[in-house]
Amino acid sequence: MSAPHILATGRCLPERVVTNEELNQRVDTSDEWVFSRTGIHQRHFCEEETGLDLAVSAARQAMDRAGATAADIGVCLVATFTPDHASPSTACLLQRELGLEEDTVCFDLNAACAGFLYGLKTAHALLSDTPRPCALVVGAEVISRVMDHTDRGTCVLFGDGAGAAVVRRDASRRWHAVFGTRGDPDSIRVQGPGPLPSAIHMDGRAVFRFAVEVVEQSIRQLLEREGLVSINDLDLVVCHQANARIIDFVAKRLGAREGLFFKNMDRYGNTSAASIPIALDELVQAGALRPGMRVLMVGFGGGLTWAGALLEW
Ligand code: ACO
Repeated sequence: MSAPHILATGRCLPERVVTNEELNQRVDTSDEWVFSRTGIHQRHFCEEETGLDLAVSAARQAMDRAGATAADIGVCLVATFTPDHASPSTACLLQRELGLEEDTVCFDLNAACAGFLYGLKTAHALLSDTPRPCALVVGAEVISRVMDHTDRGTCVLFGDGAGAAVVRRDASRRWHAVFGTRGDPDSIRVQGPGPLPSAIHMDGRAVFRFAVEVVEQSIRQLLEREGLVSINDLDLVVCHQANARIIDFVAKRLGAREGLFFKNMDRYGNTSAASIPIALDELVQAGALRPGMRVLMVGFGGGLTWAGALLEW
């Protein structure tokens, strides 16, 4: 028996806030259209900041709060589909910025919007084989760099940001995790590698159908494994923040009480692999996520890929 114990979190959003009204100056859209279909009012876009800058800032915050030094970190993973470079990985550059030791296992992983939970699972496994006690798991995205800013169907959905967690392997805890992939080449596709401009292509309705199916399925599987009858036996559900309608649809189908499913996409849009750690950090800082609480997380995205985890905070 062993589980990842998240000791502390951090987050970093780029300074520049872009509202739906501002996007309406570039493309034919409106705050009413975007908010009613997605729950998004605004997002942050990088100007000067790189993905590495965001990752460093979120990671430093998480390490400071965990009281972890560079010598404590044996694994450093960055979940991203928008790294600054194809190589070196953001994780390698983060190692340098944070002064992590040479024997630290550092790499990027791409599981789209499910990336943070794939990172948590991978870090937990790798920690069994490192002399250092902690892992750093970061989700960091600069999606504004790969978007077609003239495509109103996608440019209103995404935002940039990073979230980070310091994780320890705890033999006295248990957790449940589920993972899946459909090998879908088309429903969400980002061109590359290759010369910019890149662009996100998405079949929004297919993604919606996929998302509500696998989020509900993952939650039911995790509840069953934990021996829980009702979703309301949980303290908190943190889904990937793609779209409020996906979350509301699933919450209703499962008979969830008001407020059980956390939502913050109104302020950040869809930040892909960063969305769950950003949400966790907001909750912790607000005092809404406390030790002992049972929290369920579900990520879903390109691939079509998904992951869920149920653990005690
Ligand atoms: N503003 C105004 N009108 C718009 C906009 C916009 N920003 N975008 C599209 N439209 C128009 C379209 O042109 C279309 O017009 P038409 O009927 O004249 O052709 C009309 O609105 C309907 O377009 P759809 O793409 O069919 O819009 P839909 O109602 O499906 O909503 C959305 C789009 C919000 C993306 C929806 O499909 C959805 O919720 N998908 C879920 C997937 C998702 O959230 N993906 C995001 C990221 S992927 C991930 O993280 C997993």
